[in-house]
Amino acid sequence: MAPGPFDAIVLGAGGAGLMCAAVAGQRGRRVLIIDHGREPGAKILISGGGRCNFTNLHTAPDRYLSANPHFARSALGRYTPQDFVELVERHGIAWHEKTLGQLFCDGSAPQIVRMLLDECDAGGVTLRLGEAIRDVGHADGRFTVTTDGGAFDAPRLVIATGGPSIPKLGATGFAYDLARRFGLMVVEPRPALVPLTLPPGEALFHSLAGVATPVVARCGGARFGEAALFTHRGLSGPAILQVSSYWRHGQAIGIDFLPCRDAGWLVAAKRSAPRTTLRRLLGDTLPDRLAATLAEQLGVAATLADTRDAVLADGEKRLRDWTFLPNGTEGFAKAEVTVGGIATDGLSQRDLSATRVPGLYAIGEAVDVTGWLGGYNFQWAWASGWAAGEAL
Ligand code: FDA
Repeated sequence: MAPGPFDAIVLGAGGAGLMCAAVAGQRGRRVLIIDHGREPGAKILISGGGRCNFTNLHTAPDRYLSANPHFARSALGRYTPQDFVELVERHGIAWHEKTLGQLFCDGSAPQIVRMLLDECDAGGVTLRLGEAIRDVGHADGRFTVTTDGGAFDAPRLVIATGGPSIPKLGATGFAYDLARRFGLMVVEPRPALVPLTLPPGEALFHSLAGVATPVVARCGGARFGEAALFTHRGLSGPAILQVSSYWRHGQAIGIDFLPCRDAGWLVAAKRSAPRTTLRRLLGDTLPDRLAATLAEQLGVAATLADTRDAVLADGEKRLRDWTFLPNGTEGFAKAEVTVGGIATDGLSQRDLSATRVPGLYAIGEAVDVTGWLGGYNFQWAWASGWAAGEAL
């Protein structure tokens, strides 16, 4: 006998889908979740270095990228980081703030998945895992989902299958194909929060693989003060991951290697330590190998006393806005999230329903809303899942 009946089917057992199903289930809706993966919350399990950076206290719409920068305001305003913290505390999960408002489990990420599954249990949610979706039909106001395991139907369908970042964890572009079939537009998906690659010509920097330093990284109008890390292929580290979400092919990245030094530092150093060299001076502020590479690139080998003020001022200018021209990113295989996705102009800001397809919803990373690094993406998953779950 076919299981059911169901009031809603949620496609995807990630953070957004689990939250949505739990909320709707606890409101008395009969909810089915279908996922082709065997493990619910696969990305939660590996997030935040295994401790899940589950939210950010500084969550605000301006920390999200979207073609409509106001779209996320309603959902984020109605389900806040504090709401999620209360849920976490209700489940006895200890947490701490690491830095910049980022909240992590003291224990480990599986606690968050266990919490969401317990919430789903409390709502009587049915989970079907490890089932590939063969077809999704829509007729007479009902959605029919056919999987390896059978056919299931409901008057409401939630697309929560995320974006294509990290395919080896089961990520696909399924959400976009499905959305298009229902007449929704898709904003070009691009890898985001992803390392940038540098062309072979930047060999000197490639040789710095493993060196990290605090910087301010800039791309267009976006600026982030955090660490940058040189890699064998180019640039990574939080500051670079942040600007990567804004980066487009052909655009330059600017890096300030001296964020903690006052303007005019080099010329002032010439007065206080005339016998030192640029390399040694930079070595007081930057890792030694990086200091050597930058001094070499600037072509300043003499002591500061023997270097003209204008040359030092010019050098400082470059050190404060060192330009890299990346030739690409490490792609979806390494991207923490996807920028772009199901266009927000076909969705309600309040409950994430499709304005032209009654009963259809899209939530989480599948939607064209992408957060900064640091817990913002999970907060969007919870908030959008909650908003849809309240409406189902
Ligand atoms: P998510 O991708 O989590 O879930 C989608 C589900 O749909 C998956 O279970 C998948 O198997 C399923 N699915 C996909 N295609 C399907 C198909 N065709 N048929 C059936 N099922 C299908 N964010 C943050 O805020 N803090 C953090 O610490 C981290 N850390 C982090 C680390 C790493 C390595 C990654 C890759 C990502 C993060 N993120 C993060 C980002 C965060 O993981 C991401 O934003 C959320 O998981 C998105 O939640 P969703 O539920 O929308 O999609």
